[in-house]
Amino acid sequence: MRILFVGDVVGSPGRDMVKEYVPKLKEKFRPTVTIINGENAASGKGITEAIYRGFLEIGAQAVTLGNHAWDNRDIFEFIDKAKYLVRPANFPDAVPGKGIVYLKVNQDEVAIINLQGRTFMPTIDCPFKKADELVEEARKRTPIIFVDFHAEATSEKQALSWYLDGRISALVGTHTHVQTADERILPAGTAYLSDVGMTGPYDGILGVEREAVIKRFLTSLPARFEVPKTGRAQLSAVVIDIDKKTGTAKKIERVLINDDHPFYS
Ligand SMILES: [Fe+2]
Ligand SMILES: [Fe+2]
Repeated sequence: MRILFVGDVVGSPGRDMVKEYVPKLKEKFRPTVTIINGENAASGKGITEAIYRGFLEIGAQAVTLGNHAWDNRDIFEFIDKAKYLVRPANFPDAVPGKGIVYLKVNQDEVAIINLQGRTFMPTIDCPFKKADELVEEARKRTPIIFVDFHAEATSEKQALSWYLDGRISALVGTHTHVQTADERILPAGTAYLSDVGMTGPYDGILGVEREAVIKRFLTSLPARFEVPKTGRAQLSAVVIDIDKKTGTAKKIERVLINDDHPFYS
């Protein structure tokens, strides 16, 4: 069982990178399951139904989200019928959509869970307690459990991965938009990476036009952040091999494609 996961896709530059490189990555790594985080896919803010469907057409089997899930109002029109769209599970119960999705792949089943952190982020229910609940539910069906933990603080990400070590196959972080180099397999078999990184503009700041971000730091005044339409782009991803009998991870490999880290087929 091999999972290819692509980190936060930002706007049209990110979507173009997905279109160009996901087929190449699928050819190179031959993943059993491909998952994309699409929380910033619509102009940096949220996701539309057309973009969600486009990701499935290009070969993703599931799309995860994060704190930007609700930024594009379109989400409320389609989230409840989007079978393979996963939003952070620890939003209050009344929130539409779901935080866990089960994918049938050949004879196996993969559980995909999305959770959101609480440190330096908006108030939300406890991701640790919600993880306990969902992992217990998932393990009745399958040992193959993948968690996208959308969080700011590396400490919170490390804490949840150690807390769940041996109970899930992998926990990878999203949200910071910067790939970390700390991929590892924890002692009880859970693959871990603090942040997969972002797929989108390479010369902006976290995927948005850098001038506005610099101005905000210089003046402390509110600024409008836009995704640049042109310029160089990058793709950030991770590939994880999982023993499908035990659900434990065997290998984790980061993928970073940009002008400083060229793609080799
Ligand atoms: Fe993001
Ligand atoms: Fe985010």
